[in-house]
Amino acid sequence: MTNTIQRLTQRNFLNTADLPQEEILSLIDLALSLKQGQINKTLTGKTLATLFFNPSVRTRVSFASAMFKLGGQALDISSEGAWAFEYRDGIVMDGSTIEHVKEVAPVLSRYCDAIAIRSSELITKSAESVKVGDWNTAKQDIVLNSFAKYATVPVINMESNVYHPCQGLGDAITIKEKLGYTQGKKYVLTWAYHPKALPMATPNSQMLAACDLGMDVVVAHPQGWDLDPEILATAAQRAGQSGGSFSIEHNMDSALNGARVVCAKSWGALKYYGDWAEEKRFRAQYKDWIVNQENLRSTQDALVMHCLPVRRNVEVSDDVLDSPSSIVIDEAENRMWGQMALLASLL
Ligand code: CP
Repeated sequence: MTNTIQRLTQRNFLNTADLPQEEILSLIDLALSLKQGQINKTLTGKTLATLFFNPSVRTRVSFASAMFKLGGQALDISSEGAWAFEYRDGIVMDGSTIEHVKEVAPVLSRYCDAIAIRSSELITKSAESVKVGDWNTAKQDIVLNSFAKYATVPVINMESNVYHPCQGLGDAITIKEKLGYTQGKKYVLTWAYHPKALPMATPNSQMLAACDLGMDVVVAHPQGWDLDPEILATAAQRAGQSGGSFSIEHNMDSALNGARVVCAKSWGALKYYGDWAEEKRFRAQYKDWIVNQENLRSTQDALVMHCLPVRRNVEVSDDVLDSPSSIVIDEAENRMWGQMALLASLL
């Protein structure tokens, strides 16, 4: 294990798959060495602007702690405390938006050494899924990509509509930490029932990161809950490159057979994106897609992951979350060590 800091080839961290696999593996290595106490305060005097357009516990606190431990500071700007920003080109700003990203991104770049953004249209505190537009528009990640375009410092994705790369990285660190050698071991990302349609960003990034570890990656979900085909193709390509495999199954029980790691995650169906009333009618029939002790029996004593927040006894049962199989707290902790590795390599 090394704490050698290698500069990343990309200026921004928007998606793990933008980076060559060897850079992801180096970040994992660095994160684990930082966790063992090999910390140098390499970011003394540096600041990170964290801009949250949605609620967060783990991402907000783990970034603040990560910057502090490295000698720097995170400056938290919640959307309620900032102006309403505009992203459209050539717009007459006589409506509700106050400031254009063409000003705010370069201004923050003058104050801070990096900008981190959480902007996902489906992350809300509301009990019901919110009304949104179509997937092709959401997929453009206008907020994140506009900051990346107009900032003059690195931009970090703290979860957009499409990717949650810091979660993917934290998960990969946790798998590596627990399993050591990961090549050829079975990892199952399984859809789980949830009363709301959740974003696909986290499962996209969890799947992509597992593919970088040379694992036999299986994504299990009911028929119709396919992830974006372009991202699935990238996952398959990255799995091939790392010497692993990638497949999709529609039966949770058979998918879990022989698994070493089971990651539970809910997401909304792409084909009903924004039409949640229709999706909900179909989703209700899959309440048995819950990770519990019974369906874990066919695994090889699988470790159970979840990005949190988790709906107990809806996505994962109490008897699993409260058992030694659950590694969700370590997984959440490793978000911080992963982001420390990232910040040290990017700033
Ligand atoms: N997993 C995760 O990103 O948690 P938060 O939404 O609380 O940041």
